[in-house]
Amino acid sequence: MQEVIEKSFGIISQQAVAMAEYLEDKEGRLPRSYVKEKDEIVTSDSKWWCSGFFPGVLWYLYEYSGDPVHRKLAEDFSARVEKEKYNTYDHDIGFQIYCSFGNGYRLTGREDYRDVLKVAGESAIKRFNPELGVIRSWDFNARLWQYPVIIDNMMNLELLMWNYHNTGNQVFREVAVSHSDKTMEHHYRPDFSSYHVVSYDTLTGIPHKKQTHQGAFDESLWARGSAWGLYGYVVMYRETRLQRYLDQAVAIANLMIDHPNMPGDGIPYWDYLAPDIPDALRDASAGAIMASALIELSTLTEGELSSKYLSMAEKQLTTLSTPEYLAEPGTNGFFILKRGVGHIPQKSEVDVPLTYGDYYFTEALLRYKALKGW
Ligand code: GLY
Repeated sequence: MQEVIEKSFGIISQQAVAMAEYLEDKEGRLPRSYVKEKDEIVTSDSKWWCSGFFPGVLWYLYEYSGDPVHRKLAEDFSARVEKEKYNTYDHDIGFQIYCSFGNGYRLTGREDYRDVLKVAGESAIKRFNPELGVIRSWDFNARLWQYPVIIDNMMNLELLMWNYHNTGNQVFREVAVSHSDKTMEHHYRPDFSSYHVVSYDTLTGIPHKKQTHQGAFDESLWARGSAWGLYGYVVMYRETRLQRYLDQAVAIANLMIDHPNMPGDGIPYWDYLAPDIPDALRDASAGAIMASALIELSTLTEGELSSKYLSMAEKQLTTLSTPEYLAEPGTNGFFILKRGVGHIPQKSEVDVPLTYGDYYFTEALLRYKALKGW
């Protein structure tokens, strides 16, 4: 694993620095994906839900290298995302601001970053409805969904818990706990697979629709959604020590690892129930998110369970560091991982690099390194 980490960070460093150089004169732009056929890097502005991931990769690179050049790049690209601290148009502020400024604050202690995180926390809770007990994810499709909450929303709670710990304001914890509890109640089936979208009836508070948006079909097991849920409950257990969140994370992890459709190399099909398995595409991003969550979960569990989670993460990181998934330096539009699956039902970003795959892969490598004290 030491070799896997060193080799991967060699590539992460070359790719991330090359990406930063490519974007240097493209004001306000951030990497989104890559179209291989045209050799074209697709960029976004800060409003895209993924805008915080590239700054986050740069912060992790700085954490690994300690190189002030990497810190400067991380600061410059975080600045491109800062205005999203006012985001109240959707729930993605946690991804946007915590992955960038959360890491930046953790590594530098900069007071101005602390202020960004506080403003972002205030923005995030504006989308919480106390009657329903959940944070609203999206505002589109209003004719179909009264109050849609997606499983991905569990990933925004770390920002709230940071605000609870750093301001002492109980409201942040209450919102995060309420959202987590309602999600456990309404998103999960008895086998701990999850619906992607649950829309609440705003009068009764009871879901009126449970379906998918990015998965294969409503009752399917969309791999990335499941990984978001796993990661979210690991975070919520770390932050609250409420046993029910650990139980939830363990149950989701076991489902994902022990599922008969989990391939032997640990990288899930984009949907565990995709109709064309074994020919279905894999999703490197789901594998990376899962690996990062499992490394942390291995530290929160003991004995066989802990070993099971760590060895699965080792397998996943080893697979992701093979040429099948890890880019050759200078290729892949300067992204790190290949073979991510964005949104198959909309035929968007299919079998391409994705910034969130890069972010969680880099995070997982660092988590593994820290765990071993290397
Ligand atoms: N909706 C965020 C994702 O594609 O995972």
